[in-house]
Amino acid sequence: MDISGEQVKVPRHVGIIMDGNGRWARKRLLPRNAGHRAGVQRMEELAVHAQEMGVEYFTVYALSTENMSRSKEELDGLYNLIRSYFSKSVDELYRRHAAVRILGDMAPLPGDVAEKLYEAEVNSPGDATFHFQFAINYGGRAEILRAVNDAALLAHRDALEGRPPARYTDESFHDLLYTKGMPDVDLIIRTGGEERLSNFLLYQAAYAELYFTDVLFPDFDTGEFDKALLDFSRRDRRYGKIRPGE
Ligand code: FPP
Repeated sequence: MDISGEQVKVPRHVGIIMDGNGRWARKRLLPRNAGHRAGVQRMEELAVHAQEMGVEYFTVYALSTENMSRSKEELDGLYNLIRSYFSKSVDELYRRHAAVRILGDMAPLPGDVAEKLYEAEVNSPGDATFHFQFAINYGGRAEILRAVNDAALLAHRDALEGRPPARYTDESFHDLLYTKGMPDVDLIIRTGGEERLSNFLLYQAAYAELYFTDVLFPDFDTGEFDKALLDFSRRDRRYGKIRPGE
């Protein structure tokens, strides 16, 4: 893929921490949810663009476990955006050969929202070429703890059936995470000026490149996204190894 005449290597899996919606709205004297609405539009545009650029896995942090303590008004607004997005836009995603996966605990969400998310996932095409993950009521620590508890239950079952407990490998442990079967995230972009992971894809980000920008998420357009791709492409990913000859 080419960006501004430069050949770039495109990350297979991109994650985005969509921060800054509230500040974007405040600057315009609008309610916070107007910022989230603008954020959803941006998210849709970026997903199409990422697919066109050759990204195969695209994961957005839509609602963290910590965000669940925001005001009822803000959460209701976010649930409405989720309802509307998954009613109106999901068919277009499928037409573009995209599959939906939800990362997170759906149990505390309003029943109809959880149902829509479940339907979006199970109705996804089996031959998808683009994989769109929505982290909703997601936290990396909660995901790892859930996997550990599942592993303990499996070990208990093994013991009852007289088998020795399984020794986990990176791969078999990953099978207990929400991202089962997916490649690790290569590039995490965080908009809005903060420079931290905030509990996003903790296990999967072991070798991720991190890209931070002050741009608020509703202003993070495809040109800004390309800047992140270019920056990623220029980095030297060694996975703890050294270059030959060094
Ligand atoms: C962080 O900005 C953003 C969020 C907590 C929510 C992001 C969610 C969306 C963009 C919409 C999700 C909807 C769908 C359909 C998946 P902030 O509110 O913390 O911004 P601030 O730091 O400027 O206050």
